[in-house]
Amino acid sequence: MLEVIVLAAGRGTRMRSSLPKVLHALASKPMIHHVLDTARALEASRIHVVVGHGAELVSSAIAADDVTTYVQSEQLGTGHAALAAAPHCQLESTVIVLFGDVPLLSSATLSRVIKAAESGPVLLAASVKDPHGYGRVIRDSNGAFERVVEQKDANVEELSVCEVNTGVLAAKSQNLKSWLARVTNDNAQGEYYLPDVLGLAVSDGHSVEVVVTDDEVETQGVNDRIQLEALERSLQIRQAEALMARGVYLSDKSRFDLRGELDCAEDVSIDVNVLIEGHVSIARGAAIEANCVLKDCTIGEGAIVRAFSHIEGATVGPDCQIGPYARLRPGAELSAKAKVGNFVEVKNSHFGEGAKANHLAYVGDAEIGAGSNIGAGTITCNYDGVNKHRTELGENVFIGSNSTLVAPLSVEDNGFVAAGSTVTSPVGESELAVGRAKQRNIKGWKRPEKSKK
Ligand code: UD1
Ligand code: MG
Repeated sequence: MLEVIVLAAGRGTRMRSSLPKVLHALASKPMIHHVLDTARALEASRIHVVVGHGAELVSSAIAADDVTTYVQSEQLGTGHAALAAAPHCQLESTVIVLFGDVPLLSSATLSRVIKAAESGPVLLAASVKDPHGYGRVIRDSNGAFERVVEQKDANVEELSVCEVNTGVLAAKSQNLKSWLARVTNDNAQGEYYLPDVLGLAVSDGHSVEVVVTDDEVETQGVNDRIQLEALERSLQIRQAEALMARGVYLSDKSRFDLRGELDCAEDVSIDVNVLIEGHVSIARGAAIEANCVLKDCTIGEGAIVRAFSHIEGATVGPDCQIGPYARLRPGAELSAKAKVGNFVEVKNSHFGEGAKANHLAYVGDAEIGAGSNIGAGTITCNYDGVNKHRTELGENVFIGSNSTLVAPLSVEDNGFVAAGSTVTSPVGESELAVGRAKQRNIKGWKRPEKSKK
């Protein structure tokens, strides 16, 4: 049986933030959630999380059936933290310890550690170019693991070691508990160091297996905002490359941000500075131009989203054209070949096939029938200050420019609204509605002249 302990009690002093470190986000997801998702992928029978600094905030952020939290009220070191959870692990379990601030470890790498733990204690180490700040892995003259020495306790020779402790270790529960109980705080920081359990294992005659990964991204810990930003960039590049491998054309992988999940078919093209949030799916051959934000939406096959458009909670059908500068809000649903052009805002409305609003309009709580056209400057007045009302347009309706459609309102098939109308009562099939002051031309009218002082 596998149990996971996640250490997440530390202050995160170096972040200089009132938010507990493990709640700082990578790709919009708190670091601790990256770690918990990985733990779940390992099919751990139980996940124990040690919280302390900001305990209430962290506990409520991670509350779930498979997670138990323990409070470490004073942060006396990683060994002391592990001791808060270890007594709750079953004696016969294998226990793997993860850090809440090492968010990108892959389940494949951790599976290697768990496999190795069947035959004895294991440390996951990384060989890195710059070991600064990490605990160094010290081996004896035969190359066998001896102990981990922290940066602040290391001598010059030890500091030059580029094999570092990732923070991950695994052992049989029973052994881990007995070693943890013997860890002392006799070191430069006066802390109980978790990796000391492996030094104790060696002195008890165990050989500690060191699983090494050379993937510097997955083992990176986050202690300050510079490391957080660096890891975010690395994660973004990875995600971008994974999309490209699936047939997406990205014009610049360093100017693409995915904060959520993107389900993308082949031959989708995404131009620079596109931000994807939540769950987004983009069908084959669709193109997203520069500087768009897409959140929780679906883009149909062959659709084009032109530059600077903002789409949230919307469904865009096949071959639609959106933008530039369009805004689709939650509940916007566009059937095939619909067009929503520049400075048009659509909310909770359906556009039938080929319906269009090409310029400067607000369409809210409306049904726009197939083939209908909404002229520039049209506003659906959907809100009376208390309630929302619907506007229903049939098929092939024409709304002239600068019209005000006061809902509740219906315009039946082939209805026509003259430009500049304020329409308050229903328009029947094929009727023309004119709702504006009649034009008067005044002959002999003189322009005002500048007054003399
Ligand atoms: C730790 C390791 C170091 C390793 C590095 C990898 C120790 C002593 N050092 O150093 O060898 O190279 O991680 O990133 O283990 N925490 C608690 N309670 C505490 C202290 C820490 O829960 O009392 C948690 C923190 O929330 C964090 C994790 O343990 O998630 C690691 O603590 P941190 O202070 O970041 O240790 P590092 O200095 O990074
Ligand atoms: Mg750390």
